[in-house]
Amino acid sequence: MIRKVAVLGSTGSIGIQALEIIHASPELELHSLLCGSNLDLLLKQKEYYAPSIAAIASPCGNCPDDIISGQEVLQKVIDGADTVLNAIVGSAGLHASLICSDRGITLALANKESLVVGGELLRDHITAGGIIPVDSEHSTIFRCLHGELRPVRSITLTASGGSARYISVDKLQTAGADEILNHPTWDMGERITVDSATMVNKAFEVIEARWLFGGIQIDVVMHPQSIVHSFVRLEDGSWKALLGKPDMKVPLQYALQYPDRGLDLISDDSPLDWGALEFSELDNRRYPAFDSVVRAGQDGRTWPAAANAADEVAVAAFLARKISFGDITTVIEEVLAGHTASDITDLKSIMEADRASRVEAERIVKRLC
Ligand SMILES: NC(=O)c1ccc[n+]([C@@H]2O[C@H](COP(=O)([O-])OP(=O)(O)OC[C@H]3O[C@@H](n4cnc5c(N)ncnc54)[C@H](OP(=O)(O)O)[C@@H]3O)[C@@H](O)[C@H]2O)c1
Repeated sequence: MIRKVAVLGSTGSIGIQALEIIHASPELELHSLLCGSNLDLLLKQKEYYAPSIAAIASPCGNCPDDIISGQEVLQKVIDGADTVLNAIVGSAGLHASLICSDRGITLALANKESLVVGGELLRDHITAGGIIPVDSEHSTIFRCLHGELRPVRSITLTASGGSARYISVDKLQTAGADEILNHPTWDMGERITVDSATMVNKAFEVIEARWLFGGIQIDVVMHPQSIVHSFVRLEDGSWKALLGKPDMKVPLQYALQYPDRGLDLISDDSPLDWGALEFSELDNRRYPAFDSVVRAGQDGRTWPAAANAADEVAVAAFLARKISFGDITTVIEEVLAGHTASDITDLKSIMEADRASRVEAERIVKRLC
């Protein structure tokens, strides 16, 4: 049976690659497209891929009649889909994940922020097997755990260290956006590229892994080549991993075709192409935000939502050349230091922590400018 897919965040790095996969697969049909504000690209995608529905999240005064926007837009793009790919960036993606959870729709999840800020509310959908990870590390672990009948010892997430890995610690504080956006191994959207350089992205992935894989010990190891996409350590101490040239189409195709569909060849590399594979410990001096955000995840409640909101504001200010690279960590740490956490009971409690933390982060950014 043909699987109908809704692509949320269709104009972004993940969304664009997902559209190519869906287009190439006779078993997948594009049901709907949603973007944030990039109407020009959305119109091109609509013309080329011909989905049943195309929608834009921002208010759109000059939209053609066949592009929907406004209230209930999320419900409309999700209605009728068998699988929803959530590739929206930021905590803005949470609402869509919650709709999938409420309706029992399979969620191919790239938007890790859904679990970072709202894992508590997605718990039942995870337990029901409704979330298939798209992040390459989590997809790897998901695949490595498949077929393992005995509990595993630990999970090890690999981290390239982003562009910050090649800049001296002294110069990192004042590194510019062009330098930071030049990721050595992955070609991604701007926020995740900056988050890779601060390792906030890896801290988010630790939180994401905790929600997806339960109480298993989680470690992080530096691996600059991004060939090993993470490890699972089995009961007898052996390591299981997925290796290959970094390409997000691999985890994307896996999530969209899961559990029982054939997979096309994406990566035709050979071990001879990889060169030496290096692993080392994470250097906390280079990535000071990592520990702060992991701790926020351990503390739970609305701490991770505050960390994410602070990071979203700080990264936007950095990309707008208002604050320095080192200031991103300052904003996150100061927002967390002033945050009063509350229990997560519903979306409203998360959105309130998100709003208050953004206000505080904006105030800190103004001071640092
Ligand atoms: N890129 C990667 O390789 C990669 C790998 C693993 C995980 N991820 C995760 O995947 C997600 C997307 O990353 P990305 O790199 O693809 O980001 P991106 O290139 O910045 O694209 C973000 C997408 O989200 C849309 N969007 C923003 N706000 C929205 C809103 N309020 N409602 C609906 N759509 C909205 C954007 O639309 P406009 O273009 O119209 O603004 C765009 O289509 C992130 O959570 C990221 O952490 C990405």
